[in-house]
Amino acid sequence: MADTADMLRLENLQVHFPIQGGLLDRVVGRPAGAVRAVDGIDLNVRRGEIVALVGESGSGKTTVGRVITKLAQPTAGRLLFEGHDVTSVQGLSALRPYRQRVQMIFQDAYQALNPRHTVFDIVAEPLRSLRLASGKHLTERVSEALVSAGLNPPSDFLSRFPHELSGGQRQRVVIAGALAVRPELIVADEPVSMLDVSIRAQILQVLVGLRDKRNMALLFITHDLPLAWLIADRIAVLYLGKLVEIGSADEITFNPHHPYTIALRNATPQIGGNAGRAEMPTLQGEVPSAAHVPKGCRFHTRCPLAFDLCKVKEPPAIEVGPRHVSACWRSEG
Ligand SMILES: Nc1ncnc2c1ncn2[C@@H]1O[C@H](COP(=O)(O)OP(=O)(O)O)[C@@H](O)[C@H]1O
Ligand SMILES: [Mg+2]
Repeated sequence: MADTADMLRLENLQVHFPIQGGLLDRVVGRPAGAVRAVDGIDLNVRRGEIVALVGESGSGKTTVGRVITKLAQPTAGRLLFEGHDVTSVQGLSALRPYRQRVQMIFQDAYQALNPRHTVFDIVAEPLRSLRLASGKHLTERVSEALVSAGLNPPSDFLSRFPHELSGGQRQRVVIAGALAVRPELIVADEPVSMLDVSIRAQILQVLVGLRDKRNMALLFITHDLPLAWLIADRIAVLYLGKLVEIGSADEITFNPHHPYTIALRNATPQIGGNAGRAEMPTLQGEVPSAAHVPKGCRFHTRCPLAFDLCKVKEPPAIEVGPRHVSACWRSEG
């Protein structure tokens, strides 16, 4: 049943990138395969909710964010916003209303700010391209966004250039650009991973404050489980393009069910608790390539608890508690 409170909903979302085959493949018409970056995920985000998408590098996090913000097209599945199927909405003008409601903060965007643009130009850009404001109104909206992102008073920043700002201030400029359009959902891709620990907390406070003040929703992408616990209401754990566990931030952190989540948790000593620690040694080996996803449960090649069924059959999402699911055969029965 669709939850009527869902703002964003991903249904069996899939993004496969075709691999260019060699000459021989083409001559004999052999399919060259695909990188299964996102391999069928179901996820919902409610209004005013902060959901963290957690996974190692290469697990598909950025690709999920790009699909949600309509920068990448899924190869299968559906993207719904407020119950409307927006999967096939394309083109600048058709996407304008959606872009006004859903914004993305890119990984390391603040390092790539145009050095010749002032803070005003950078924050005004989305407002201009979405034709939301001009003239005096534009200046007001830019100033309002700077204040919301913690750059106060805005007059101190409007005519400055990126090189005149600290890393934390540059990241605030990026956040202000996303905020300027007054979105209802922000997808933030590793927004603090390159910042000093002391600045991280301030930036996180800005993001959480937006939810509290504006009931904005946030999909917070990170590889850092403790950070996810700190900021999110719910956590979704991604492994090789598939969600292996979803639940409340506390459940995922202190009562994880999936062996992969337990391994992630055990790898971070700052999180207390011993659930599953004894039976679950540390993670072995490397993440397999998304071009060669293991059969059965895709985690079985690294899972010390795997048994025969795991090698041949992919586990479904199994309910292990209220709004807590784990895709592991051990969770069954
Ligand atoms: N445009 C692309 N073409 C081919 N493969 C891609 C492309 N974008 C991402 N991938 C691959 O998809 C997988 C997931 O990438 P990504 O979404 O960037 O993961 P994450 O953000 O979790 O590090 C990786 O194996 C990556 O190499
Ligand atoms: Mg990424």
